Amino acid sequence: MTKEPKRYLVTSALPYANGPLHIGHIAGAYLPADIYVRYLRAKGKDVAFICGSDEHGAAITLRAKKENKHPKEIVDYYHLLMGGAFKDFGISFDEYYRTSSEEHRQMSSDIFLKLNSKGVFDKQTSRQYYDEEQNQFLADRYIMGTCPNCGNDKAYGDQCEKCGTALSPLDLIDPKSTISGSKPVLKETSHWYLPMSHHQSWIGDFIQNGSLNGKFHHDPKEWKAHVVGQCMSWIDGGLHSRAMTRDLDWGVPVPLEDAEGKVLYVWLDAPIGYITNTKVWADKNGKNWEDYWKSEDCQLIHFIGKDNIVFHCIIFPIILKAHGEFILPSNVPANEFMNLEGDKISTSRNWAVWLHEYLQEFPGKQDEMRYVLGSIMPEQKDSEFTWVDFKDRVNNELADILGNFVNRVFVLTQKYYEGKAPGTFDALPVDEQIMAAVTDAFQTTGSKIEQFRFREALAEAMNIARLGNKYLTETEPWKLLKSEPNRTATILHNCLNIVATLSVAIRPFLPFTSAKLQQGLNIEDQPWSDDASNVIKKEHVIGNLPILFEKITDEIVAAQMAKLSASKEDINTSAAEPLKENIAFDEFQKMDIRVGIIKAAEKIAKTKKLLKLLVDTGVDERTIVSGIAEFYEPEHCIGKKVILLANLAPREIKGVMSQGMILMAENNSGELSFISPEKDFLAGATVR
Ligand code: 2FM
Ligand code: ZN
Repeated sequence: MTKEPKRYLVTSALPYANGPLHIGHIAGAYLPADIYVRYLRAKGKDVAFICGSDEHGAAITLRAKKENKHPKEIVDYYHLLMGGAFKDFGISFDEYYRTSSEEHRQMSSDIFLKLNSKGVFDKQTSRQYYDEEQNQFLADRYIMGTCPNCGNDKAYGDQCEKCGTALSPLDLIDPKSTISGSKPVLKETSHWYLPMSHHQSWIGDFIQNGSLNGKFHHDPKEWKAHVVGQCMSWIDGGLHSRAMTRDLDWGVPVPLEDAEGKVLYVWLDAPIGYITNTKVWADKNGKNWEDYWKSEDCQLIHFIGKDNIVFHCIIFPIILKAHGEFILPSNVPANEFMNLEGDKISTSRNWAVWLHEYLQEFPGKQDEMRYVLGSIMPEQKDSEFTWVDFKDRVNNELADILGNFVNRVFVLTQKYYEGKAPGTFDALPVDEQIMAAVTDAFQTTGSKIEQFRFREALAEAMNIARLGNKYLTETEPWKLLKSEPNRTATILHNCLNIVATLSVAIRPFLPFTSAKLQQGLNIEDQPWSDDASNVIKKEHVIGNLPILFEKITDEIVAAQMAKLSASKEDINTSAAEPLKENIAFDEFQKMDIRVGIIKAAEKIAKTKKLLKLLVDTGVDERTIVSGIAEFYEPEHCIGKKVILLANLAPREIKGVMSQGMILMAENNSGELSFISPEKDFLAGATVR
């Protein structure tokens, strides 16, 4: 990047709204982007940080079908859960919007129509598998059969996960629809294809040489080698046509007359979501979205995981350039994958540390996880999270190095100078050396961030605290108070400035801690300046400092490990609970079990699990306390039909009188689900 841009447009991959976020997602595409953006903002740059939920695609419709739900129900739930977790974790998007929105339908339709009118697509007819029982064409993932390569009888229409061979549905032996189990038939269908081979030459030049239209666009050496490598091996293998539309009933409808029942391919509509969401943000904030997407003065940077590289570096740039008005990415600093305790993170196997659970179980400890993920993020190669390492880094680095240094400086300043910066007197070489080293570490932190080397940047920021500790240990100002008061004053005053510099340097990584330090120092919202080491002037009054980091105990680590191994056992033994003893029919008859409708729901303060529900039982409306808050947001409960035990003796739970019990199904991971009548019955219908 040679020229300083006027604006930055930073995006993080839109996560699919069909499951919660885990720490692998965060370390991959969200934390690095947030660090970068917070740094740019602290430098006073004009930056838009855009993300949102990816709410279309076969994975979501498949899941909806399995759970007998409308896709909207699924995406509504996860959009809220993910948006809330990002915010709570301090991922500071300017906009987090959604691809099921009207604004997005409009934007992606406009872009599709413009591309179509420019002749960018080829319309082609081909034979594809169709499920006659369900009356629908089958996306590749909806077809299973035997792999022609290895004989695995559970290969998907796009890939055999056993031998890794990329397949087309027509390759499968004995294909079956995964929706109905029936044998699909081949039927003709038409789609709009992007003939990528037409773009092969310029996209190769763009990736390999950083040139666009024969001019310099970016320095390819600034891109990560694995990103360029993956793209070039794709390009060298030859680019093929890819359908940009699908036969599905969930997605952005193809805005053409001869396209009934067709929607845009999710990998066309999702990246356009970046554009939609920028416009949504701009419209709310008196900005012009085109200043970001259509101006050479703006730099576009996509933060993603490595599984998204070709979409962001090849397919989307082809779309953007073919459209003709948009800028192309200046960099795509994709991360590799992070593993967990020696195994791949997996949503379906529940092998993950879920972000929303971490936030519940470790309230106020966002920076501890941000620090650990920032230290181990898989920038150049896959990396690994373990709970023991989490504990060690928090205790030995955050608490013992950063927390300890800052605490000593505050305590000594309060004790000797009543909280007032004492000023410096004649500096000795040791003072000058330390302060120069601090400035150097601070500047290196910034330049490493600019190179997307966040691990090294964070280590440099921590070096400022290390230098501070070293300074105190070498000079021992507490021993000089009487004999050389000017030395003690000089050292402490310098230390206050080291804390100030540290607070600026850690701000992109540890925003919560930085704010505590700056509040304590009374220097809120310090910008990133070239020399942050002269912020505190003589007589400046500091305040108090809260405890920054508590130690993580062995018990905490053990509890997290037990939770993980329980999920592994769960998967390995899908054992159901043994049956209970028989009961007499009249014992069962004593129970008043009926359908109820939830009218209102709210969290019970200071509890993690409890919701207070107002339930219509058909004869009255009553309060029932239910331990479901970890699985249902209050707003998702309202209007739900549930089954309740109405004549359970009332009892007080956390100060609330609960009249009855909502019956829930529980799987062997302890997850709870409402049970609802299959037909549209009214409240009060009995269950027997
Ligand atoms: O891999 C994923 O989770 C995709 N939902 C990422 C989409 S990124 C962008 F194109 F929107
Ligand atoms: Zn195979």
